[in-house]
Amino acid sequence: MSDQTSFYPELAKDIAPARGRLGVLLPGIGAVSTTLVAGVHLIAKGLARPFGSLTQMQRIRLGKRTNPRFVPVHELVPLAKLTDLVFGGWDIFPDNAYEAARAAGVLTAEMLENVKEELSAIEPWPGVFDRSYVRRLEGTHVKSAPTKRHLADLLIEDIEGFRSAQRVDRAVMLWCGSTEVYLQPSATHQTLAAFEKGLEKNAPEITPSMIYAYAAISQGIPFGNGAPNLCVDIPALIELAHEKKVPVAGKDFKTGQTLMKTIVAPGLKARMLGLEGWFSTNILGNRDGEVLDDPGSFRSKEVSKASVLDAILQPEIYEELYGRYFHKIRIEYYPPRGDAKEGWDNIDIVGWLGQPMQIKINFLCRDSILAAPVALDLILFLDLAQRAGLAGIQEWLSFYFKSPMSRADLKPEHDLFIQHLKLTNTLRILVGEEVLDHSGLDYYEGEAPAAEEELDRRKSGTE
Ligand SMILES: NC(=O)c1ccc[n+]([C@@H]2O[C@H](COP(=O)([O-])OP(=O)(O)OC[C@H]3O[C@@H](n4cnc5c(N)ncnc54)[C@H](O)[C@@H]3O)[C@@H](O)[C@H]2O)c1
Repeated sequence: MSDQTSFYPELAKDIAPARGRLGVLLPGIGAVSTTLVAGVHLIAKGLARPFGSLTQMQRIRLGKRTNPRFVPVHELVPLAKLTDLVFGGWDIFPDNAYEAARAAGVLTAEMLENVKEELSAIEPWPGVFDRSYVRRLEGTHVKSAPTKRHLADLLIEDIEGFRSAQRVDRAVMLWCGSTEVYLQPSATHQTLAAFEKGLEKNAPEITPSMIYAYAAISQGIPFGNGAPNLCVDIPALIELAHEKKVPVAGKDFKTGQTLMKTIVAPGLKARMLGLEGWFSTNILGNRDGEVLDDPGSFRSKEVSKASVLDAILQPEIYEELYGRYFHKIRIEYYPPRGDAKEGWDNIDIVGWLGQPMQIKINFLCRDSILAAPVALDLILFLDLAQRAGLAGIQEWLSFYFKSPMSRADLKPEHDLFIQHLKLTNTLRILVGEEVLDHSGLDYYEGEAPAAEEELDRRKSGTE
């Protein structure tokens, strides 16, 4: 047996080069968007470093551990360069990206001063908005049109104008708008024909974020959803994505508390430690927190966060260990904290002979600092996926989401480490490299290595 067991030459792709400018279309010019845009410019100017971003910092191991190569992701696959990114977006308030970044208060005034010109140049186009879906906001900078179909056309006009004014060769859209109220998929969402009829008839189950997704995909533009609302996660838009050969991904950026959950829970399960309860609460005071203070929007977030533990712990298989745990999630809007969220987790676990133990996590995180590199990677990977000819749901991007989209008959993967392997192996497969399974048995079959070789091997390490 080898630790490079699988090789899928038939799945390797001819990936078109990342030539020219990549337009990044952002519905929602708020905390995440402005931290992303400011960060990209600061990094491109050499004034800051892209910590948290796989596309910019991670290396992927190729070859055997006796002769490994650790290749940077951006050398393994052709990705757009940060200097080739051009940003545009919509918001329901007219502030430019510099003003929005100052209001969001994530980055210091001094950092923002270095990219003031670039940020000030991003003046949002009026948004497609309806208060019934985000009740805590009252937009003043919004489009009006007789039907949702017309609203989609207005978005397409903005996209076309941006493409020609900025001379962009390709584009990606990433929803960074507020969380919409919770909705169950309904008949209008099931087929493209029903959805398009719904657009004409102003069907209430078609939300603004779905109109943006429709506009993007219909124009051949890959679409990602950073919020937990349904948006692109409906059969009608997946059908359109396949028809237009467009990759899509979602939903809900995996950042603070859920990121921690998907790091800790796989460890508990791997060691067969039981779980009696997991209580998560956090305080945050930015606009996202204000929107989530509404029970309708909170429900979208709660559903997105809640499925994580069950999916990882598999109570249906491990009834004794995980069949009865209590999972409670709270988000409290607390303005003094702004974007500097604080999360508390109390985890009641059970060990050998049923003995109880507790784990406490107190995460003083910065929401948008964790979200911005996720947004950047998604933009670059969605563009890569399109140049590689991948269409529909990009399950290999589950790594970045709290509530990963997957084919209807497959369970989504939540374990961060499996998600990471899925991502890195997908990159290997795309470029015709062998995938790794890390069993390592083959190194111990046959003759033992000479002492010198063994030393070299230890120095080179593993991935
Ligand atoms: N920050 C994180 O770590 C994180 C993590 C996971 C998910 N998210 C989600 O990402 C989204 C953005 O988060 P944020 O912290 O930047 O929030 P934010 O409130 O700072 O920004 C959202 C922006 O979207 C605008 N907006 C709302 N509806 C719109 C519409 N229909 N069209 C155009 N603009 C619209 C708002 O005016 C606001 O400026 C939220 O849905 C949030 O739940 C954020």
